[in-house]
Parts: sequence; C-alpha cells; structure tokens
Amino acid sequence: MVLVTDARKPIGVFDSGVGGLTVVRALRARLPGEDIVYLGDTARVPYGSKSPRTVERYSLACQAFLLARDVKLVLIACNTASANALPALRGASPVPVIGAVDPGAESALAATRDGHIGVIGTLGTVRSGAYERALAARTDVRVSSLACPLFVPLAEEGWTEPDDEVARAVARRYLGELFALDPAIDTLVLGCTHYPLLRGVITATACELAGRAVAVVDSATAMAEAAARTLRRGPSALAQGERGQLACHATDISRLDEIAPRFLGEDVTSFELVDL
Ligand code: DGL
Repeated sequence: MVLVTDARKPIGVFDSGVGGLTVVRALRARLPGEDIVYLGDTARVPYGSKSPRTVERYSLACQAFLLARDVKLVLIACNTASANALPALRGASPVPVIGAVDPGAESALAATRDGHIGVIGTLGTVRSGAYERALAARTDVRVSSLACPLFVPLAEEGWTEPDDEVARAVARRYLGELFALDPAIDTLVLGCTHYPLLRGVITATACELAGRAVAVVDSATAMAEAAARTLRRGPSALAQGERGQLACHATDISRLDEIAPRFLGEDVTSFELVDL
C-alpha cells in the first residue's frame, strides 16, 4: 500500500533496456504529474535469451537501484523479468511491485471474442509459461505462444513502419507459425515491451493471416492503469497539470539518444550512466 506521505516520491520503472520506455510513455499519459525514475539495464540486454536465475539476479539489482532512490512503487517494464522474477522482486521490496504479465493478460481477456489468445514475447517469457498461468483464470480460453526474438532488434533499429519489407517478412514468418498453432486466434498479446513499436506491422500481418480483425493488446496501458489504481490510496500532492520529472538511467548509453525517443515518444533530455 502507498501511504499519503509518500505521494511526492517518484515511481520507479525498470527494463532490460529501452523497451520499458513504452510503459513510461503510457504512465506519463495516465499520471502526468508523477515523477519517474527509469533504469534500463542496457549493458546486459537482452534478458530474453538468458536463464531464469540470471534474469532474477539482474532484476533484483535493478530494483535495488530504484529502491535506493526512495521510489514509492516499482513497475517491472519488462515481460521477461516479470515472467521470471516477480515473486523474488515482490519478496525483496517494501513498496508495491507491478509486473507486466498480469496487466497484459487482463487486457487480452477483456479483448477476446472467442477465447483464442496468441502471445508473442521473448524466449524467456514464452518458456516461463507465465501468460498461460495468468490466463488460466478463465477455463474457456485457449492460449498459443511463440518466441519472436528478431522483433527486438527491428524495433531498436527503427525498422518498424507497416510497409517496411524486412519487418513484414519477419512478422509473416513468426505470425505464420503462431497462426498454424491456432488459426482461430482473435486476440494477440504483445508480451514484450519492445513490440508496441511494431504494432502497425504486427496488426496488419495478423489480420492478413487470419482473414479477419485480430485485436492486438499490450501491457503498457494496463500497467499504467494498475499504477493509477495503486496510487489512488495516496493521491499525488502535485498541482493538476504540472508535468512530473523523468530521470533516465542506463548501464550503457551507446546509441540511446537516437533510440530512446522512438520508444518514449518525446525527447529524453539525457541518460545518466550508472553501474549496478
Ligand atoms: N524488454 C524485454 C521484454 O519485455 C525484451 C528485451 C530483452 O530480451 O531483454 O521482455
């Protein structure tokens, strides 16, 4: 629970890299007055190909960095970390911790018409079975998952336009495999915080393969909503309309000036280089 006296403290957000800035973008839209401390573990990205124990160890270090900055709430803006380290992170935090998987699953359950849900994410997220567990709350749902690792470098490279031929080819190959598992998928979860940048190409390809509309959902908006719900217990003392501060940190800063604004949707003043 977040206390009223904590209202002026910042919200902490971390990811393995820059993908979590899509969550910061949603958070700043939903709670514009909140101060945010962001950490991208860019020196150790990707987490998606690493073992669960390593992801847990790295995630605990990221969270410790945020807690040392006196945050009132932690958002794990990385599906791989959420899928593999949420219990350990919650166990180690005196403040509430919001993961990416449950909000993403809630969005999918709200969107699905026929209960056929596809989940795409990193290898670590798919292997964990976290989305299957989160979606098992509804017995009438069928879940098919596929790891799509090449979407991460495509998003970072900025090859994300719906008519980009490389992005289209990669999407057709991955989503072709996914729809072969279940041709009746009506809702697709972007289970990786990098993927919202490819929403246009992923949506167009999914609809093409399905031959009908497919709902495409992600965790970002639902995580911002979950943060707003948690903070309602301690409303912000900031004046309405005031823009909160965003302090960005990273464990490596190569190319961040170029890449980060695409994910955040606004200019990032600067990243402070930190060591964990
Ligand atoms: N941001 C990570 C996620 O949401 C993807 C990048 C990585 O593999 O670390 O799973």
